[in-house]
Amino acid sequence: MAGGSNVVGINGDILKSGLKRVQQEIDSVFDAFLPIPSDTSARLVEAMRYAAIGGGKRVRPLLVVSTAELFGVDRTAALRAGAAVEAIHVYSLIHDDLPCMDDDDLRHGKPTVHKAFNEATAVLAGDALHALAFEILADVGTSADPFVRSELIATLGTASGMNGMAGGQIMDMVADEEGVDYDLHTITRLQQLKTGALLAASVEMGAVLGKIPPEGRAHLRAYSRDIGLAFQIADDLLDVEGDAELAGKALRKDSEQGKQTFVTLMGVDKAREQARALVDQAIAHLANHGSEADMLRALARFIVERDR
Ligand code: IPE
Ligand code: IPE
Ligand code: MG
Ligand code: MG
Ligand code: MG
Repeated sequence: MAGGSNVVGINGDILKSGLKRVQQEIDSVFDAFLPIPSDTSARLVEAMRYAAIGGGKRVRPLLVVSTAELFGVDRTAALRAGAAVEAIHVYSLIHDDLPCMDDDDLRHGKPTVHKAFNEATAVLAGDALHALAFEILADVGTSADPFVRSELIATLGTASGMNGMAGGQIMDMVADEEGVDYDLHTITRLQQLKTGALLAASVEMGAVLGKIPPEGRAHLRAYSRDIGLAFQIADDLLDVEGDAELAGKALRKDSEQGKQTFVTLMGVDKAREQARALVDQAIAHLANHGSEADMLRALARFIVERDR
């Protein structure tokens, strides 16, 4: 259908320019927050910069900025909140790649932090990025309103900890222990925590900056629940059938490491079908928004169709 492919084309263009702009802006925010000191702590900041600047797709900051835009939030504030979520994400990747976790040598097409520096530096760079996220959110430059600042901190804290990313990561690690068998419900929970929580926090933080009360965020929460799940299914599909060169990381590792994913449970075709259905559902939750939500719609599509 000409009309259909045209819509996809327009969405693709919106997304490409949106991602490119946010990638440059987030690099600048990290550059400004991470000046290299002249004492022996320089190595820590060099490792943080190595991991945080360049490389990532910046899906989470684009979610923050695009949601904030729905509510007319100042872009500088939204970018700071986006950088805070991204700092947590980058820290989670540094630790995820450590030998005691997924043991990966390549990330964003270059050696992982523990390979380029050493394990202790990688652990500390992750720790310091974790702290940086909350330093950024607690600063008045992010919002003059202390209630907004504390809600941003609480939202990101919950999404990062035992009821969020870290909780999901332990379920992922336990999965490869002998005799542990996850059903669909448990895998869904694992993915929602491991990956969904930070994506949902990104959307939520955009709404918090916009001072939207919780009852006005229900449709956005429904949107992010669906894209969160779809995002990790896409990552697991990429692990099975993606191009490692494009992904910039080692693939075909999940089954080798005994990971339990939607793909291991339902196979490639069903998993892809499920991811696409989730994206359609996510977009349907935005029905009451007009063209101002086009970036969120395009992002949802990108999440399942991406090749990296
Ligand atoms: C990869 O996340 C790890 C998951 C949570 C699935 P991304 O695919 O967003 O990683 P980058 O930051 O773009 O490399
Ligand atoms: C990582 O999931 C999720 C995190 C919280 C970091 P994966 O282990 O599947 O991510 P990749 O494939 O290494 O990027
Ligand atoms: Mg992992
Ligand atoms: Mg990994
Ligand atoms: Mg993966």
